[in-house]
Amino acid sequence: MAARLVIEGGSPLRGEVEASAAKNAALPAMAASLLTAQPVVLENVPALVDVVTMRRLLEGLGAETSGGPGGATTLQVGRVACHEAPYNLVSTMRASVVVLGPLLARTGVARVALPGGCAIGGRGGRPIDQHLKGLARLGADITIQNGYVEARASRLKGARITTDLVTVTGTENLMMAAALAEGVTVLENAAREPEVADLGRLLVAMGARIEGAGTERIEIEGVAELGGARHRIIPDRIEAGTLLVAGAISGGDVTVTCAAPRHMTATLAKLEECGAALTVVGDRIRCVGPARPKAADIITSPFPGFPTDMQGQMMALLGLADGLSKITETIFENRFMHAAELRRMGALIETEGSIAVVRGVGAYQGAPVMATDLRASASLVLAGLAARGTTEVSRVYHLDRGYQALEKKLQSLGARIQRIR
Ligand code: EPZ
Repeated sequence: MAARLVIEGGSPLRGEVEASAAKNAALPAMAASLLTAQPVVLENVPALVDVVTMRRLLEGLGAETSGGPGGATTLQVGRVACHEAPYNLVSTMRASVVVLGPLLARTGVARVALPGGCAIGGRGGRPIDQHLKGLARLGADITIQNGYVEARASRLKGARITTDLVTVTGTENLMMAAALAEGVTVLENAAREPEVADLGRLLVAMGARIEGAGTERIEIEGVAELGGARHRIIPDRIEAGTLLVAGAISGGDVTVTCAAPRHMTATLAKLEECGAALTVVGDRIRCVGPARPKAADIITSPFPGFPTDMQGQMMALLGLADGLSKITETIFENRFMHAAELRRMGALIETEGSIAVVRGVGAYQGAPVMATDLRASASLVLAGLAARGTTEVSRVYHLDRGYQALEKKLQSLGARIQRIR
């Protein structure tokens, strides 16, 4: 269905809105259910397209699932019926790769389609080489043929692994695989994202012996078997950040509740640098937007640095700033696709490789624009909220992958935004 969002810009957003649970914590948590024959109960899985994709993927592997949005989701893989994550699912969601580690650890065999040319690109097209090198260190035989990775291991053995770069799902795959390996695994240069720490907490609740999840060094002592657990997923720091930028870019006054400010320090600092007035009380973050944002430079980096998943949203804000901003994207190649669409709304943005130079303008003009990937679509929605006139964002399915009814949340804050089928 070619849904699109139609936005009448110019209304300052005001009010309170609740952050949903984190997509990037829910997906690995769901995959962790492969590690045990017992039920894993996740209390607050968000209603997202990527969650549905992961659910379908796990059901294809033999999971029984029940429950869903608004209630707890139960996943139980009493028996692994299939060892293959098929291309048609993996090609729609790069994160499918997080079934590789747990599937291999549980059964000794895993076949996962290589992620295709994901829109935001992997370094030189080797999007999961760190995952594979790590699994090989744990004793897996890895072969790549016909677009699939095949991993085999009679029993994984603990090892010392230092990844060449910080990889979030790579860390998650290796932590899950090591949980059932024989002996101790030490992951160095591990990703410190809150979603990694959250997965660590779930695995420990399932009986894993893990120290240091959420730090750059994780020690995992393998156990013979894991059990079920009940787990509440952390708030989505990227959705919360997106909602705060909506308050800032519209010159409004927005409070995001059920958030985790501790996971958002870089985003909050950058919003304040742009002139937003922030107040943090417990799990509530209030953002009063400036009349006009100030320019600020951004360099994306692994947690706790500025998150790449907020880069497009901040570019939309900086496009209206009083001055020149430089954005350096160090995590993904080709993650400036929103710039071309923002330019069509009047933004003055020059991109060269991993650097974008943004010369702030007084206002955007509403325009028909096209979403290219999940966070790029959020960037365009934010620009539409501030633009003069009407903005139509097409290919909204990108947005639905990672935001639970974003337009309803924005409507509740006074935005004039409609989804047109
Ligand atoms: C996770 O992706 C997130 N997804 C991404 O969020 C996020 O942008 C990214 O981490 C960085 O924070 C999930 O957690 C499901 P990486 P991931 O492995 O794990 C390269 C969103 O919008 N790399 O940390 O796939 C890679 O190409 C999504 O919610 C290799 O070269 O990212 C990238 O350039 C988008 N080889 C960089 O490292 C590898 O084996 C970081 O990737 C692994 C990664």
